[in-house]
Amino acid sequence: MDRPSGKDKPLFTPGPLTTSATVKKAMLSDLGSRDLAFVRAVGEIRSGLLELAGVSKEEGWESVLMQGSGTFSVESVLSSSIPKDGVLLVARNGAYGERIATIARCHGIPVHEVICGEGEPVEPAAVEAALDAHPEVTHLAIVHCETTSGVLNPVEAVGALAAARGVTYFVDSMSAFGAVPIDLEACHVDFLVSSANKCIEGVPGFGFALCRRAALDDCEGRARSLSLDLFAQWKGLDTNGQFRFTPPTHALLAFHRALFELEEEGGVSGRQARYQTNHARILSGIQALGLEAYVPEEHQCWIITSIRYPESEGFSFDVLYERLNERGFVIYPGKVTDADCFRIGNIGRLFPEDMDALLSALGGVLAEMGVRGGA
Ligand SMILES: Cc1ncc(COP(=O)(O)O)c(C=O)c1O
Repeated sequence: MDRPSGKDKPLFTPGPLTTSATVKKAMLSDLGSRDLAFVRAVGEIRSGLLELAGVSKEEGWESVLMQGSGTFSVESVLSSSIPKDGVLLVARNGAYGERIATIARCHGIPVHEVICGEGEPVEPAAVEAALDAHPEVTHLAIVHCETTSGVLNPVEAVGALAAARGVTYFVDSMSAFGAVPIDLEACHVDFLVSSANKCIEGVPGFGFALCRRAALDDCEGRARSLSLDLFAQWKGLDTNGQFRFTPPTHALLAFHRALFELEEEGGVSGRQARYQTNHARILSGIQALGLEAYVPEEHQCWIITSIRYPESEGFSFDVLYERLNERGFVIYPGKVTDADCFRIGNIGRLFPEDMDALLSALGGVLAEMGVRGGA
């Protein structure tokens, strides 16, 4: 399997990620946005994404690529799909769910929220009660794996509630799609968003929306922004295979290669298996060092692991970060609001042996800090 080039520090983060040398190499071409090879690659990316999701155009699905980071794609779907008289319900348990509500408010969209604990999945019963209390809701949004903590949300149970009421369902699967299986039909998804630099292991530069065509058709004339108009972007891509505005050509070429490498690894289940092994190594390793995971294992996705700060006067996250960085490892700060944590990303071109090397360095730094359990 293609490895990273070795000269960069491995990124134990939720993105940008460590990528394979061959993904990076795929960017060593300056192609024009009308170049036939580039237009072909864009078409293959769009069909490859549908294939990865187990759906097809024939079954009424479309994939739309959007320039920018993942947030731009989330904003594109929300601001293009919710009509002037629409109302959004956000079921959230972390910062990325909160961001969905913030985006909607920026566009003047009325929002209701179901706010659940950050260490637990969203509760379908609470979503059901909110839908009953607010029959005016037209759209429902949830995050698949809440990267804030690493919790996996019950997207299928929540989708069934949306479908039963004819509510359009949006899933932010930014950090999960490609390594966490999702059955779009069984989950009643209308729009799913993810981005290039997460589980598909491309580089940053664009995101994408997988859209039920009937829901995408409804977006005509609803956009609140020119550049983030999902419907216009779809029509543009469908008309001549080109982006409406300058495409991130290099990032797309890298992604084209990354999709091929995902296929080579055995698709979603192959990638899931590697990330699950990575996560299991991290979990047992931190436990051996006397550290505790923030999320109970039954709610934990295998994408990222939140770890509580050790209860020790000698501990400082900034010192930990710096000393690990000096040893060649990049970790990530915590993001939950109710506990002091740091995070270790399990995704990207990282393997169990990378996890072992990080754990060994972590043990050394904790010992230097005088934290009990440090090796
Ligand atoms: C679940 C989720 N949603 C949205 C985002 C935002 O993506 P970006 O930082 O690419 O805008 C992230 C980023 O990690 C994420 O994990």
